[in-house]
Amino acid sequence: MSNVPTTDEALADLSMPLVDAMMTQRAVRRVLPDPVDDAVVRKCIELALRAPTGSNGQNWEFVVVKDQAVKDQLGKRYRQAWSLYGGLGKRLAAGDESMQKILRAVQWQVDHFSEIPVLVVPCLRGGMRMPYVPSPFVGESSYFGSIYPSVQNLLLAARAMGLGASLITLPLWSVTSARRTLGLPLTVTPVCVVPLGWPRGRYGPTTRKPVEKVVHLDRYGNRAWA
Ligand SMILES: Cc1cc2nc3c(=O)[nH]c(=O)nc-3n(C[C@H](O)[C@H](O)[C@H](O)COP(=O)(O)O)c2cc1C
Repeated sequence: MSNVPTTDEALADLSMPLVDAMMTQRAVRRVLPDPVDDAVVRKCIELALRAPTGSNGQNWEFVVVKDQAVKDQLGKRYRQAWSLYGGLGKRLAAGDESMQKILRAVQWQVDHFSEIPVLVVPCLRGGMRMPYVPSPFVGESSYFGSIYPSVQNLLLAARAMGLGASLITLPLWSVTSARRTLGLPLTVTPVCVVPLGWPRGRYGPTTRKPVEKVVHLDRYGNRAWA
């Protein structure tokens, strides 16, 4: 099958076994400029909205960006952030081929950002971020925890439909600039960006730490499952 399925084919692929979607959901940064049907993006967001939120607040908003000027502006901010982090990353990744592979993919995304057909910007309403006012950690956790489950649902839906997706934050390094670009009021905070497009390559299994390396039984340090 081509990397660009029909909308009906993509929607039918949502019946993929959950475990297969989870095992192969990864950052697919190299995507084709071909358009993505609104019905496919809408389905991703519809499934994103099945996620939990703190106090069932459902205080989420999703800005779907297709306008060239908006993409260009977010791409400009991504480039700025990447010129700093990318340089640092390249130095730290010297000799680490798998990290260098990721850095090349990020570089591709930065260089081709304006050609990506759709960007979804998940945002949170209310609880305006006040960077210099300390808040209890649990507040921070509930705040961002009210958007990321929906983002993961979105990523899994994209993966099942064969749509390339990644979760990125660097284009939002200046929330003030992002608000201006996206026309967001002060009461709405952009949290991350999910670029979407039909993949140039293929989805494949992810590499992650094994369970026994991260599980502790009852008390930290008790590696009973190792
Ligand atoms: C909170 C968060 C922020 C991220 N920001 C970026 C980003 O700005 N740019 C980027 O290319 N990837 C970003 N990533 C993606 C990670 O680099 C990616 O998940 C990781 O390399 C694993 O990739 P894989 O799923 O393909 O194995 C971010 C991921 C998370 C969870």
